[in-house]
Parts: sequence; C-alpha cells; structure tokens
Amino acid sequence: MHLHRYERIWLIIGGATLVLFLSIVGVQAFATDAHPPGSLVTVDPKTVTQEAPFNKPSLTQVGPKEYKAVMVGRMFTFQPGKMEIPAGSTVHFQITSPDVVHGFEIAGTNVNMMVIPGHINRATYTFNHPGEYLIVCNEYCGTGHQVMAGKIVVK
Ligand code: CUA
Repeated sequence: MHLHRYERIWLIIGGATLVLFLSIVGVQAFATDAHPPGSLVTVDPKTVTQEAPFNKPSLTQVGPKEYKAVMVGRMFTFQPGKMEIPAGSTVHFQITSPDVVHGFEIAGTNVNMMVIPGHINRATYTFNHPGEYLIVCNEYCGTGHQVMAGKIVVK
C-alpha cells in the first residue's frame, strides 16, 4: 500500500497526539491516585459505625462559635437528628453512610452533598440567621426515603 507523504505525516501526528493524550490521562488517573472530588477519605462501610468517631455521631464545640458535626446518614435517619447552635456559628460537617447512598441537603443553604458508603464527605457552613433548618435526603434510598430528615435549630 502506498501512502501519500502528507498522509503519512498526519498519521504520525495523529498517533503521537493520541499517545500523548492517553499518557496525560493515565498519569492523572493512576499515578496521582485520583478520587471523586470531595471524597478523599475512604472508610469501610461495614465497620465505620462501630469505630470512633462515627460510633457516636455528635455535635461538639471546637472553638468560639465553631462546631464539628460528626454524622451518619442511614436508612432512614440522620444521626444526630437534631442539633442546636447559636446564630453566627460555623459548623464543619462530616458524614458517611453504612448502607446505601443518601443525600445531605440543608434547605435554604448551599450545602448539598452525597452521603456515600465508604467515603467521608465534608461541608462547612456558617449559620448567620436564626431559624430551623431542615436536613433532607435528596437521593432515593429506599422505602423510608421520604421520612429521612434532620433538623438544625439556630438560636
Ligand atoms: Cu436517604 Cu433518601
């Protein structure tokens, strides 16, 4: 088979581009040990609720008007289900699931993340306005999905 000179040049350029592209993607995917964004911490969903800190889901104060909320989202509840904080508080949420994928959305805020078995997802939010904030599961997770909710009371 006879190839025109330009045809051969462009085949080489095309092939080289492909190799270069696959190398870049390969390095990013494997060499840097990439994970889904926001899910850098992995845990064993079978044992995560038996070990600290997720064995005792709780809200703890870590500074002036600063709190840490260690939470578990599971069929069909959030733990802790109700939290009270003073207005102006910043809360660092971390949450995981021992069963299936859930959602974690705080209505009226920009906090909206997935709760994934095997991962710890995090979000931080400052509650400047007093009121009751509803935590809703926005991923269908089974027959009790529509009752899966929690509450944050800001005073
Ligand atoms: Cu949990 Cu829907």
